[in-house]
Amino acid sequence: MAAGAEGLRGLLALLVLGVLAAGGEGTSPDIQTGFSDSTGKLILSCNLTDPYSAIEGHEWKHGDKILQTDMESSTFTSYIIEGKKEEHSGIYECIYKTSPEIKGEMNISVLPQVVAYKKSEHGNEGDTGVLTCKNPSFPPVSAWVWYRNDQESIIVNGSGRYIIKSSGNKTELRILKLNIEEDTGDYHCSAINSIGKGEATVNLRVRSRLAALWPFLGIVAEVLVLVTIIFIYEKRRKPDEVLDDDDGGSAPLKSNATNHKDKNVRQRNAN
Ligand SMILES: *[C@@H]1O[C@H](CO)[C@@H](O)[C@H](O)[C@H]1NC(C)=O
Ligand SMILES: *[C@@H]1O[C@H](CO)[C@@H](O)[C@H](O)[C@H]1NC(C)=O
Ligand SMILES: *[C@@H]1O[C@H](CO)[C@@H](O)[C@H](O)[C@H]1NC(C)=O
Ligand SMILES: *[C@@H]1O[C@H](CO)[C@@H](O)[C@H](O)[C@H]1NC(C)=O
Repeated sequence: MAAGAEGLRGLLALLVLGVLAAGGEGTSPDIQTGFSDSTGKLILSCNLTDPYSAIEGHEWKHGDKILQTDMESSTFTSYIIEGKKEEHSGIYECIYKTSPEIKGEMNISVLPQVVAYKKSEHGNEGDTGVLTCKNPSFPPVSAWVWYRNDQESIIVNGSGRYIIKSSGNKTELRILKLNIEEDTGDYHCSAINSIGKGEATVNLRVRSRLAALWPFLGIVAEVLVLVTIIFIYEKRRKPDEVLDDDDGGSAPLKSNATNHKDKNVRQRNAN
């Protein structure tokens, strides 16, 4: 009988230990977390209502980044963020330096804050167009969707000339063999997370292949015009030169031209 009671007590002790261990692992149930969002300031706070041991300080963390530390023994600690919560989403922790450590966790969750890598993309006809969006905010995106205003349905991966690649925070829409009439326009990348939806717009412009050649063609045209002008000019003054050559003999062309000019001036003066 006594042995049985001992065994039962042992089992109970094990159970209690197990519960304590589970409680000590993650967020302590003895921490009241608070979050307030007022006039451009976010205030995160933790209140340890039942300290196990002496508190030797506090630490605030965002991911691996330590935001603030102190050596105070108070049960209450707070951290102030300047700015909007949309810009500071994520998982925050308050850590009490006790032994063992006690942690409180707070999530600042926002709608997806989607941004386009480039608000406007350019592509050449026939090339592959690549449009990219990302979401740096918390919670992570569970699904990405691309669509166009002028088309009723969403863009399906693998349909037509479209390929979509999405990986967590980032999505990429590739459009193969760009076409000026069909592909020019606005594309929207829409992200869904556990809070809701957010999106960004990318404007795609497709240029004609010739457009890339325009500067070169312009230079060619200029050269052609110049050559033509010179040619016509030379042809027009040929009869004069023949005369010049006759009385000038074998003088070089350059001095010929100046002689000729002089003669013109003299002639004009005479007139
Ligand atoms: C912390 O929690 C205790 C117990 O709930 C409460 O009495 C106290 O006012 C709280 N402190 C702060 C600063 O909120
Ligand atoms: C915070 O977010 C993480 C990851 O999504 C989740 O595992 C955790 O339960 C959340 N914590 C709170 C206090 O909501
Ligand atoms: C789209 O299809 C390609 C190839 O079939 C695949 O590699 C890719 O993972 C797909 N993207 C999405 C978002 O499912
Ligand atoms: C998402 O973005 C956050 C913040 O930029 C980053 O820490 C995280 O590793 C990213 N996750 C993925 C799956 O890319």
